[in-house]
Amino acid sequence: MAKLIIEGRTRIQGEISIGGAKNSILPILACTLLTNKTVRIKNCPKISDVNNMLNILKTLGGSYYFEGDSLYVDTAKAETYVMPPDLSRELRSSIFMLGSILARFGQACCVYPGGCEIGNRPIGLHLSGLKMLNVSVIEEEGSIICNGENMEGTAIHLDYPSVGATENLMMAASGAKGKTIITNAAREPEIEDLQAFMRKLGFNVTGAGTSTIEIDGKLDIEVPDVVEHKIISDRIVAGSMLCAAAICGGNLNVKSIEPLHISSTLSKLREAGCNLDIGKSNVHISATDRLKEIRMIETLPHPGFPTDMQALLFALCTVADGTSIIVENVFENRFKHAPEFTKMGAVITQRDRTAIIRGVKHLRGAHVTAQDLRGGAALVIAGLAAWGYTTVDNVEFIDRGYERIEDMLNSVGANITRIN
Ligand code: EPZ
Repeated sequence: MAKLIIEGRTRIQGEISIGGAKNSILPILACTLLTNKTVRIKNCPKISDVNNMLNILKTLGGSYYFEGDSLYVDTAKAETYVMPPDLSRELRSSIFMLGSILARFGQACCVYPGGCEIGNRPIGLHLSGLKMLNVSVIEEEGSIICNGENMEGTAIHLDYPSVGATENLMMAASGAKGKTIITNAAREPEIEDLQAFMRKLGFNVTGAGTSTIEIDGKLDIEVPDVVEHKIISDRIVAGSMLCAAAICGGNLNVKSIEPLHISSTLSKLREAGCNLDIGKSNVHISATDRLKEIRMIETLPHPGFPTDMQALLFALCTVADGTSIIVENVFENRFKHAPEFTKMGAVITQRDRTAIIRGVKHLRGAHVTAQDLRGGAALVIAGLAAWGYTTVDNVEFIDRGYERIEDMLNSVGANITRIN
């Protein structure tokens, strides 16, 4: 397992551009099964989750190649509806391929993706939504066997605005007869990006970004031989870079982003005393030497504060001048970074989904272990501010969602070495 060695007390300064969003490219890659045209994707992040998803498409019979700044995907020759068990477990969010495979082949078979580091990750909302579309779902011995040869559009209300379930059902509904209306749908920006892509494939999808999404089969528009799409910027990576500057009194211009997608994070950075100059597609942050207290952070579905930014703000709270309360409402096990911060001298009290953090003047470098993707990134940025060197193990977690985080941070003043 690779590790990162981070020199402490560095100051992040300069300019950095943000790449495409992991949580947008993954459903869009699944969605390429809904067309036999070639798809040209721009701004595709070079992260391991994308490699896993491309390998799944390849085992289904699809093909892909990178050329210049573009990824080309062709699923015209896809011929199997059975998802590869090992790859599906490796990338648990591949569960939302069920919908696109059903719409393409009328049948789908996969294994239960299982839980992961941050929670059990149940899929009941996915399966109940599919059943409402007249999909027969048989669950046996860890496998899920679906028959959707006669899918019919219907009204689906999600008990919880699940991102994956919303995406899965949008794609499944594209293969159903008649209109489907999803209410209490997730409103994340990545859902809007999926809708924009589906519309380019000829599907009449509207409402993404609101709680009500309508899918009405195919538009009778002429779909070009090559469908082009640029992935939206990764709002979590953007927030992570801003937090890296904030924790060490830095001065950073973060470019190629959509500031509206990170409003809740910007609000917390302002509360922490950071100066923000917000442009059309950039945010310039300048931070003071000591962050002010951030009193309360509660994670919620978008547009609430994103659970994926929780660990990064947690890092800021460990050195802020005051006491912070963080409530993790979305996932049941997303404080695994807390004991690691304690090793660095943080003062934390945790009860179930609530953490109380009393900020200390400075953290001390330590040997810590990434327990999940965002928690790992949070440990790296904490290492930037700590006194002394910090070693972060299990960097593979971080590589799932950040394109070599050490290169990004070293380009703006950090001194981080990767040891494979
Ligand atoms: C997506 O996961 C993201 N992943 C996650 O990002 C993100 O944290 C999450 O949405 C919330 O924003 C991708 O888009 C690939 P959910 P997803 O379904 O779709 C419960 C990262 O770090 N739930 O909105 O799995 C579930 O247990 C990753 O980039 C059910 O109960 O999230 C959780 O408590 C981590 N039943 C809550 O909903 C279901 O059928 C949110 O899950 C589905 C979900």
